[in-house]
Amino acid sequence: MAIASRSLHESLFPKYPCFSHDFRRRHSLRFSSPPFRFTVRASSAVAVETDLSIQKNQTVETDLFSCPVCYEPLIRKGPPGLNLAAIYRSGFKCKQCNKSYSSKNVYLDLTVTAGLRNYTEVKPVGTELFRSPFVSFVYERGWRQNFNRRGFPGPDEEFRMAQEYFKPVEGGILVDVSCGSGLFSRKFAKSGTYAGVIALDFSENMLRQCNDFINQDASILSSNIALVRADVSRLPFSSGSIDAVHAGAALHCWPSPSNAVAEISRIMRSGGIFVGSTFLRYTSSTHRIIQPFREGVLQNNFLTEEEIEDLCTSCGLSNYTRKIQQSFIMFSAQKP
Ligand SMILES: C[S@@+](CC[C@H](N)C(=O)[O-])C[C@H]1O[C@@H](n2cnc3c(N)ncnc32)[C@H](O)[C@@H]1O
Repeated sequence: MAIASRSLHESLFPKYPCFSHDFRRRHSLRFSSPPFRFTVRASSAVAVETDLSIQKNQTVETDLFSCPVCYEPLIRKGPPGLNLAAIYRSGFKCKQCNKSYSSKNVYLDLTVTAGLRNYTEVKPVGTELFRSPFVSFVYERGWRQNFNRRGFPGPDEEFRMAQEYFKPVEGGILVDVSCGSGLFSRKFAKSGTYAGVIALDFSENMLRQCNDFINQDASILSSNIALVRADVSRLPFSSGSIDAVHAGAALHCWPSPSNAVAEISRIMRSGGIFVGSTFLRYTSSTHRIIQPFREGVLQNNFLTEEEIEDLCTSCGLSNYTRKIQQSFIMFSAQKP
């Protein structure tokens, strides 16, 4: 079945799991909601989809989203489109793992643990902290503003800097990994620069908060934006399928930055661009006496500038470049 699904997929979208190469190159495709009609009508898909009961007016397609267990593209049943309404009304299934995924809540849950009843897993503090409803609520209401004291230039300037790095991939699909309450996902979607924006986070409450903010702005609500719950170490996309990955102020929160960057590198197509920002553990201007104190257990995932470059290089990324201001670093690297 996996082979059937893949060959269906490849014959439809030879280079890209969801869209043709031409499609991605046509930067004029800065449309809103329902342009994603790269769909196999139910009648033509029955050969591989015999056990899906297909109702009238429903479509079945292989999707941009992949199974977080086996990375095979998911089969989607429901209205096409990379927008909140269409995704909410769609069901997703991995034929290989016989596992279904849906938007029971406001987001599409594509974690390995989606739908499990008897299993819970506690992640490290950098992940668990942001799952709290309180932190999710205050995040854009004061918490994020504090970052400026450590050198972060602020959302408008950080967005401008990221957009500069992303120029070569305009018109493509952008995944905003660890989007939080969607501070940047919303800006990317509103800019109309990308064919689609996927706001992705592990925190259910951050995604709910993001949905609330989106609902307050009609122009974002009607844009091509999806809300996806996923773990950065298990990204629900096929290898080589994504044009741009953004991860603002996130690397220091990840359980394993190396697994995360490896995953990001895996999902990016050749020429794809990764832009990340984080707090540095210390910079060259940090006094040498203070540096050892910044090596403690709590600072484990706060990397140095050299470590970040090393990590990107060891995950197969090149053209590394960065901007630093006090503890703030924004870096960019490209998939060769
Ligand atoms: C400091 S916030 C950054 C939010 C936003 N990108 C920004 O620039 O303000 C860090 C985010 O990383 C997310 N995160 C932590 N662990 C994660 C994981 N394992 N997978 C995905 N996201 C994770 C948290 O839920 C949180 O929303």
